[in-house]
Amino acid sequence: RARLTVPALRKMKAEGRRIVSITAYDASFARSVDAAGIDLVLVGDSLGMVCQGRDSTLPVTVDDIAYHVACVARGLSGAFLVADLPFQSDATPERALDASTRCLQAGAQMVKLEGAGPKLEVIRFLAEREIPVCAHLGLTPQSVLRLGGYKVQGKEAAAAKKLLADARAVAEAGADLLVLECVPSSLAAEITAAVAIPTIGIGAGPSCDGQILVLHDLLGMNSGHRRPRFVKDFLAEGGSVLGAFQAYAAAVRDGSFPSPEHGY
Ligand code: KIV
Ligand code: NA
Repeated sequence: RARLTVPALRKMKAEGRRIVSITAYDASFARSVDAAGIDLVLVGDSLGMVCQGRDSTLPVTVDDIAYHVACVARGLSGAFLVADLPFQSDATPERALDASTRCLQAGAQMVKLEGAGPKLEVIRFLAEREIPVCAHLGLTPQSVLRLGGYKVQGKEAAAAKKLLADARAVAEAGADLLVLECVPSSLAAEITAAVAIPTIGIGAGPSCDGQILVLHDLLGMNSGHRRPRFVKDFLAEGGSVLGAFQAYAAAVRDGSFPSPEHGY
């Protein structure tokens, strides 16, 4: 199949076709994900936890991401490939440009970075230099030390208002995609209606333009952590790794996943 593009993702939102997304870290899983017809693959800095066994994403480096992006890129033919900018590699526009260039030269089509505020300048700088950017708001795991844990964000009225303003701001700064992680379903619906760029939810309810899950979570591997509410084990119903990816894609497209009990 033809490789998905940035304009194609935007068209999917306009036409109400859900963007099925997943993380992957190596060529074998990438091949299987691609064969299942999944639209978008993220090489997430979650690799620090699921591949490296660390207890946060903070130790992940640009070298780590570039290595896994190159591995995943070899396994993909049609899916759109996004790379996470790891902790502080996006702290300044210049650092972010260097890190993004490495990710794109390794085979990614877009980079993802967490937050708004000072990151708006970074998003603008990258977008003006023809680097597609995915923003990431709500629970931003690179903020874990200041947040004190992985918790739902935007529950109080003031925090919800700020999240909506941040979503508008990242889109205005030039982001082409927006991940919403662990925010109330109603707020994610409001943000999705308010911005022209597609939203991809994880723990953000059924109204986002797309959904993403961490590969290992979707296969029922919880690596010793408590399983979050938004995770579903698709291996059980899919019967095989490929079957699990196909079941996930079908459930996202027909709107049966996520169901209300997967949201906040
Ligand atoms: O690193 C990651 O896997 C992510 C997704 C969960 C959105 O950022
Ligand atoms: Na991430």
